[in-house]
Amino acid sequence: MQLRSYSENDVRGKKVLVRADLNVPLKSGAVSDETRIAASLPNIIKLHEFGALISVVSHLGRPRGEPKPELRMEPVALALERLLIAQNCGINTVTYVPDCTGTAVEEAIAAQSPDTVVMLENSRFYPGETKNDAEFARQLAQPFEVFVNDAFGTAHRAHASTVGVAEHLPAFAGPLMLREVEALSRITEHPAKPFVVVLGGKKVSDKLPLLQNLCGRADRVLVGGAMVFTLARALGLSVGKSLVEERHIDACRDIVADYNESATKLVLPEDVTVTDDIESPANIANRRLAEIEDREMGVDIGEMTRDAFALQLSDAATIFWNGPMGVFEHKPFDAGTIAVAEAIAANPEAYSVVGGGESVEALNKLGFAASISHISTGGGASLEFVGGLELPGLKTLAV
Ligand code: 3PG
Repeated sequence: MQLRSYSENDVRGKKVLVRADLNVPLKSGAVSDETRIAASLPNIIKLHEFGALISVVSHLGRPRGEPKPELRMEPVALALERLLIAQNCGINTVTYVPDCTGTAVEEAIAAQSPDTVVMLENSRFYPGETKNDAEFARQLAQPFEVFVNDAFGTAHRAHASTVGVAEHLPAFAGPLMLREVEALSRITEHPAKPFVVVLGGKKVSDKLPLLQNLCGRADRVLVGGAMVFTLARALGLSVGKSLVEERHIDACRDIVADYNESATKLVLPEDVTVTDDIESPANIANRRLAEIEDREMGVDIGEMTRDAFALQLSDAATIFWNGPMGVFEHKPFDAGTIAVAEAIAANPEAYSVVGGGESVEALNKLGFAASISHISTGGGASLEFVGGLELPGLKTLAV
């Protein structure tokens, strides 16, 4: 897929609306992880060097079309300002405007100097955003001359600030968007073999298109996380109190049958860590997948599986990982996720791509991020891209 990138001629002296994915975690009103803000800097700095007047719009959380004071963009604007100043790039101020459209935005842009970036309010405070409402998109685009979409993490959403606005302005992909698409295309187009995928997370429903798409394309798909238990039920196993998506058991049965007929190996855990209570786990045991007792729930891949997955990853030439292997936020149920992070880092010859909050958090915590070829800023977006789905935010930028 080829996307339109901008040159200096496209943006010099122009009022540019940048869509970034600044959907960052907040703690006590401040940004607690700046990864996505840092990832948006190269685009902003490049536009500044090219002489553009920059305004940034993003969503933050899921406020469902209403203003929520705790999801205002102000703390994000402060963090962006601090990071830009630290870059010594000539931008010294990020002006937060508590609106996305209308007079306040127009006034801020009219008063804007080239060393200033304008940060608009959370786009999801407006009901028109997630509906891709044509009138909201028109109002959002109105004060601007060019649109640059650098929000790969939101490219799977057909929203006014990712899709609708591109109908009103010349639209270009930013450098992060280009880098993400290039990196993920190495996974989707002729990946070096063996191509090994590790999938985890709670819900198999989030991963069904991906599981279908990888069948016949990947060499091995290693599955962990609670999504295992819906697949296990599809195989006729009892899984005790483990999380199961009953509605998707039939789809899982079809998937297992497809894999059995393909050259792709679907690898489920041989064993799992179980407990009877995640919050106060007095009883923790290691069980074969087929031997989970009625009062138990699976909370991590087991000890044998950690070694087996590490072995499967050791000779991989291409690796894609998305989703934790267990209840990562509760120690000691982070052990499987840590083991997978270690195994991927231990194979630096492989081309490795990791996406999804918890997988990336595990890599960062362990200090392994530098061993990974590409860490995607998109969780859902990278899943859909590798799953072969069309991302509406990319479609509007295609050459
Ligand atoms: C993400 O965090 O994956 C993106 O910012 C998209 O957020 P959303 O799932 O709320 O649309």
